[in-house]
Amino acid sequence: MTETGQSGGPSNRVVILGALSAIAIATARIYATERAALVLAGRNAERLRALADDLRARGASQVEIAAVDLEAAAADAPKHMADWKTKLGGLDHVHVIYGYLGEQAKASADPAELARIVSSNYATAVQWCEAAANIMRVQKRGSVVAVSSVAGDRGRQSNYAYGSAKGGLALYMQGLAHSLAPTGARAAVVKPGFVDTPMTDRMKKGGPLWASPDKVARIIRRSADRGGPIQYAPGMWRLIMLMIRSVPTFVFHKTKV
Ligand SMILES: NC(=O)c1ccc[n+]([C@@H]2O[C@H](COP(=O)([O-])OP(=O)(O)OC[C@H]3O[C@@H](n4cnc5c(N)ncnc54)[C@H](OP(=O)(O)O)[C@@H]3O)[C@@H](O)[C@H]2O)c1
Repeated sequence: MTETGQSGGPSNRVVILGALSAIAIATARIYATERAALVLAGRNAERLRALADDLRARGASQVEIAAVDLEAAAADAPKHMADWKTKLGGLDHVHVIYGYLGEQAKASADPAELARIVSSNYATAVQWCEAAANIMRVQKRGSVVAVSSVAGDRGRQSNYAYGSAKGGLALYMQGLAHSLAPTGARAAVVKPGFVDTPMTDRMKKGGPLWASPDKVARIIRRSADRGGPIQYAPGMWRLIMLMIRSVPTFVFHKTKV
C-alpha cells in the first residue's frame, strides 16, 4: 500500500480508465476493501453509478464517476487527469484497462475497424499513460499500470491488429518505466493470457490456460506497488510466450493460430 495521503485522507487515490471492464471491476473491488478513493472512467453513466454504489458498500472511502469515451477524450488527457487528481485530493495510481479486441478479418477489410483497434489499445491508451506519468514524475511517486496482452508478444494471423497495438503499448510502458525510474514513480504493464470476461465470450472457455478476472486483478493491484515493469498474468504466460516466440518462422508459418 502507498503512503498516507498528504491531507490525512485515504492511503490510495486511484483512477481507473475502462472501469466497466470485468478486469477493472475486479481491480476496483480490491481497492475498495483498502478504503481507497476512486475515479471510475467509462462510457456508460448508469453502469458507473451502480458500480460506484457497489464499491462504496465494499468500503471505498470516495467514488467519483466520469462518463467519457476514453478514445474521444484522450486529446484532453492532461486536463482530465488534473481534474481527477483535484477531486481525489492527490493521485497515487492510474490504471489503463480499457481495450477493444475487434476482429482481424474485419480489420483487414475495413480501415475503420483497424483504426478503432489501434486507437483503443495503443494510440489513446498511451496518451492517458503519459498524462498520468507527467503527474507522477513531478510528485516523484505513484504508479501508472496499463493492461496489454500476451497477444503482443508474437504477431499471428488470427489477431495481428490487436496484437500489434498491445505489443506497442507494452513497449511504451517499458520505456515509461525506464523514464520514471530515477524519480521514484513507477510504470508497469500487465500482460494477461486468456481471461474469462465479456471480451472473450466468442471463444471456447475452460481449462488451465484460462484465468478469472480476480486473479488478473490481484496482479494489477500488486504491480501498482512493486515488481518489474512487465508482469504476465498469471506468471506462467512468461514461459509460454518465451516458447512461442522461440518457434522458428518456418514452423510457425505452418500453424493456423
Ligand atoms: N479477456 C482477455 O482474455 C484479455 C486478455 C488479455 C488482455 N485483455 C485486456 O484486458 C482489458 C480489459 O478487458 P476485459 O477482458 O475486462 O474485457 P471487457 O469486460 O470486455 O472490457 C473492455 C472494456 O473496455 C471498454 N472500452 C472500450 N473502448 C472504450 C472507450 N473508447 N471508452 C471507454 N471504455 C471503453 C468497454 O466499455 P463498454 O462496456 O462501454 O463497451 C469495456 O468495459 C482490455 O484492455 C483487454 O484488451 C483481456
